[in-house]
Amino acid sequence: MTDPAPFLVDDAHVPAFRDAVSRIVSTGYCESLVRKRLGLSDITDLLWRALPIYRAQQLAVRDALALAIDLFLLQGAISSVELDQLFNTADQDALMRAGLLSIDDRGVARARASLFPVGDCLVFSDHAWPKLPHPGCVDIPHDLVMSVGADSHWLARTTVRRPVGAMLDLCTGSGVHALLAASHSQRVVAVDISPRAARCTRFNAQASGAANVEVAVGDLFEPVYGERFDLITANPPFVPSPVDSLGFRDGGHSGEDVQRRIIAGLPHHLAPGGIAQIVTELGERDDESISDRLRGWLGGAPMDILILRLRVHSATNYAIGHAEGDYDFGAFLDSVHSWADNLRTQGYSRIVSVLLVFQWSDPAFGPPWTRSEEAELPLCDAGSEVEAIFNAERMARKPNLQRLLEHSRVRRAGPIGLMEARMLGSKLHANAQAKLLGKSLPVSQWLDPVEQEVLVLMEGEPLEFPELLLCANELNLDKESVFMAVGSLLRRGLVLLTENRNPDYARQKER
Ligand SMILES: C[S@@+](CC[C@H](N)C(=O)[O-])C[C@H]1O[C@@H](n2cnc3c(N)ncnc32)[C@H](O)[C@@H]1O
Repeated sequence: MTDPAPFLVDDAHVPAFRDAVSRIVSTGYCESLVRKRLGLSDITDLLWRALPIYRAQQLAVRDALALAIDLFLLQGAISSVELDQLFNTADQDALMRAGLLSIDDRGVARARASLFPVGDCLVFSDHAWPKLPHPGCVDIPHDLVMSVGADSHWLARTTVRRPVGAMLDLCTGSGVHALLAASHSQRVVAVDISPRAARCTRFNAQASGAANVEVAVGDLFEPVYGERFDLITANPPFVPSPVDSLGFRDGGHSGEDVQRRIIAGLPHHLAPGGIAQIVTELGERDDESISDRLRGWLGGAPMDILILRLRVHSATNYAIGHAEGDYDFGAFLDSVHSWADNLRTQGYSRIVSVLLVFQWSDPAFGPPWTRSEEAELPLCDAGSEVEAIFNAERMARKPNLQRLLEHSRVRRAGPIGLMEARMLGSKLHANAQAKLLGKSLPVSQWLDPVEQEVLVLMEGEPLEFPELLLCANELNLDKESVFMAVGSLLRRGLVLLTENRNPDYARQKER
């Protein structure tokens, strides 16, 4: 008898299937424990080349967690004795019925899909390394359901997790972002063009009991025509690729076929006050800013844009990293040539991994802005820090900021690491980089000399703004440049304002 197709479970068998998933959870199978057990500093560091090392060193003690990791994450084989140690007969039957487990004539068990821990959420998908022996594909199917990759984690860790009404996850794949949003959204719609991916998302929703996830097969916004959402997430196929072999990866020769249409659709589908977050890669040209390209795709819609640059790849390294040919070196070099040629034709010097965040702009805070930051990896749970960047931009753009400052106290937003760059042998001003320490989204910011002085003056207790002006005056800094510097530090989240509690100032304010 052939094994049933993976990712299908009929309603009658859902309770037994969920019991089997609970058994996996009970082994301690969550992101932090799996990461620790494999000796990784971050789960995104998992490498197939290290499989023998994980197995021999980290999983040598074959307890239930080790067996579950070997089976569902490392695509390993476990013996019938080990399988019985991990699952009772009912659980084994449920996993076989759901197409997740196969047992050969010798009783050796292998998983037919992988299970990725993302925080406390578990996500089934096709195997991350389909070319490994078992299943040992030569040609990877075009509709392979993408496993949870580093890009999936980056989006998951930066999504703003505030309670929302309607949430849309485009290009849902395994449904990882839809599942994560299910706990803070009233309604979740997950869309994928691939019926296999849609089936996998539905299956994951059944496994986790997320009853508010609706799944639709379709091309981007087509299944939600005319609807608006408070939160939109997307991890589209983005690779500028000379081939079209993987549906989850290849974004046409420019890489932009899908991402451009998603961004063009945001003005029609993002609700007022909503937030859209896209993780992707963009080819960067020397003579064009990414911001201008995004504004062009938005078609003039007034949105504020945050670009978090996560990783930069040279075009050469990118071509080598994507070339195929396995152990046929001639074929491999031909493939490098074809990838590099495509990137050159597109005019890309670099490929940048980015998180793009869009919100409707509020005219009360001036014209729409774009802000670009270099973030440091790995990221931790940083959704609230993404939200804080938008709040800081609004605060610094308040039309009455000067008046507000005059009646406020200012203080550093937390401990700050300051790196000074002294320009030896040059007439240029010295420059410094500041980084707020202990943040989930570490970002280094350049300071001009006045910003640096102002930040240094804020040692200790919060300062009344007029006091700060007095101290700055002693350093020959004029009032206007101190206002400008504090505004800039506020915008970048390095400084916070608190209401002035001093009764003298409060009286002045009333007058
Ligand atoms: C990079 S994978 C992302 C999977 C998942 N969201 C994640 O973050 O791990 C991209 C997904 O987009 C889907 N896709 C490609 N073109 C699409 C389109 N035009 N409309 C909807 N989904 C599409 C693919 O089938 C694939 O599942």
